[in-house]
Order: sequence, then C-alpha cells, then structure tokens
Amino acid sequence: MPEYQEIQVHTVPAYTVTIGAGVLKKCGQLLRKTVPVCHAAVVTDSVVGPLYLKTVTDSLKAAGYAVSTYAFSAGEERKNFATLSDILEFLAAERLTRTDCLIALGGGVVGDMAGFAAACYLRGIRYVQMPTTLLSAVDSSVGGKTAIDLKAGKNLAGAFLQPAAVLCDTACLASLPEDVFAGGAAEAVKTGVLCDESLFALFEKGTLAADPAEVIARCVAYKAGVVERDEREQGERKLLNLGHTVGHAIEKCSGYTIPHGYAVAAGIAVMARSAERLTWTDGPVAGRICGCLKRLGLPVSAAYSAGALAEAALADKKRAGDSITIVVPKKIGACELIKIPVAELLFVIESGLEE
Ligand code: GLY
Repeated sequence: MPEYQEIQVHTVPAYTVTIGAGVLKKCGQLLRKTVPVCHAAVVTDSVVGPLYLKTVTDSLKAAGYAVSTYAFSAGEERKNFATLSDILEFLAAERLTRTDCLIALGGGVVGDMAGFAAACYLRGIRYVQMPTTLLSAVDSSVGGKTAIDLKAGKNLAGAFLQPAAVLCDTACLASLPEDVFAGGAAEAVKTGVLCDESLFALFEKGTLAADPAEVIARCVAYKAGVVERDEREQGERKLLNLGHTVGHAIEKCSGYTIPHGYAVAAGIAVMARSAERLTWTDGPVAGRICGCLKRLGLPVSAAYSAGALAEAALADKKRAGDSITIVVPKKIGACELIKIPVAELLFVIESGLEE
C-alpha cells in the first residue's frame, strides 16, 4: 500500500495533493518531486508556526532548499491589505525570484493570503499549500482561490492561482482544538450534501474523526473534478459555495468573530430550511442536515435578522448585477444552482432563518 494517498488535479499547472500522517516531516523530499531546489519562503501564523515551522524548515533544508520564514498574528481579522503588504515586503527583502517558491503553512487564512501574495509578487510565483486544519485540508488548499477580505466583505480581493503542490499532513488534525476541527467539518458536510450521500452518512454516524484521511481524500477528489471542469467558477464550481452567501454575511455581521466554518454551517442550515419550505427540494432535507451539523457541534441558526444578512450579502461576489446565484440542496448528495433577483434574497433568507 502506498505511504500516502495522492490525488491529481488536472488544471494548468496540474498538481498532486498528497495526504497522510507524517507528510510535513518529509515535505522537503515530497516537494522535490515537483519543485526544483530553490529558495523557499514559508509563510505561517502565530498559532501554527510554533507547532510545525521547525519540522517544515528542517525537512526543506535537508532536501537542499534555502529557507526563509515569516509568521503573522493568527486570525481572520489579519487577512487584509496590511498583512498582505507585509508578506510582499518580506518576499522582496528576502530577494525571492520567479524561480523560487512560497509555502503556505497553516489553515484557510494563511492559505488564502499567502496564495494571494504568491499571485501578486513579481506578477506571480510558484506556491505550495501545506494545510494544517481540517477546513483547509478538505477545501481551501485545493482549487487555487486566493484572497484577502475588504471592509465591504469577505474575500473581495484575490486571484486564481493553482498551487504547485498540496502537502496535507493528517497528523496535524490531532493538535486542533475541538471547535476548529468542527469548523472544518462544516466544509466536509457541505461536500457530502453536494455530491455524496454515503460521505454525508459518515458524518451523521459521527465517524469523521476516526478516519480523517479518507474523508479528506473523498472531499478533495470531488473538488478536484469540479475545479478541473470549471476552474474560474463560471458554472459548476459555484456549487461549492453552498451555505457561503449566508455564511459570509454571518461572518461580516459578526465582525469576523464567528469563524468561517461555523458561519458556513449556519448558512447551509438556513438554505436547507429555506429550500425545503419553498418546495425547491425533492423532499425533506433540512432535518437530516441540521441534525448532522448539530451532532458535530455546529450552529444551525444565526442571531442576525434576515434584513441584516441580506444587506451584508449584497456585497458578496456571487452577486452579478441585479441577480445572485444561490446553491439549493435538492436532496442529500445533489444540489442545484438557482439564479434569483437580488431583491428576492431577503425572502429566501427569511424563509430559512427560523428553526
Ligand atoms: N471554497 C470554494 C471553492 O474553492 O470554490
């Protein structure tokens, strides 16, 4: 049996997602399969750095890479222009060139922001994702979306840039606080609702923590296919935004104190109830979805009015002119995109807000 699971993502560039326990200790060796020896700039945050930076730098150096490191204070509130600017200045001070490589070591915030720095610096350099949270492992490290938040909303400035590799060490999940693990589970549940009832059933049974590598591999395999068919989110990829229009609005209304995964869980629940009540589903879905989210310790409601959420969602990038595309669960394992006038979003949110 191979030591690690590998999933190919056939984009330009194509890359491999390597998943398994102990990947970080061998990251230098693994990286050499795709990134020739060069200067590697590792960007991380103040939580992840103390846990894994030494392991990563030791492995990179042993494999022949020159290494520089940069850590910023952890938190969504740091995913802004100021931190991006600091990372770009760091890359310039370290004299990284286009043949060098940036490594994003951490969760979704690190991956999004370091990825965006890689997309901007010298008009684009290679980067590698090393996700350390469940959320970044099952979702954000794959697919090439990079971004920072603006005052008007989440992820409003960014770029598409596929990583050169994703190295996912499942051993990192053991160090995650329960609530951070649960936040990642929300994105995994999302994948189950989108495409795979048997995956969803694993979460219902509460077996996610038993075999996270299997869950990550199944989520990544699904996402890889979607990204290959629709890299720039012109159609099918919009499905991956299930729960995210309301989720991003909840994050914004909370001043980013509610973590992304928790907000997405509540967003999925609101959409499931709304879709069911508006008879857009093939039958009941909300009970199972909300039951599963609750079992994972995730919220299924939000403390904001429909008006406040609809207002916050108006800045969302999923809006196009006077319409917005929402993702509606038809049944567990199949969702569809529905384009509605922006003016109807309030009614859709109102319909699903009450438990
Ligand atoms: N997180 C959704 C996407 O990558 O498209």
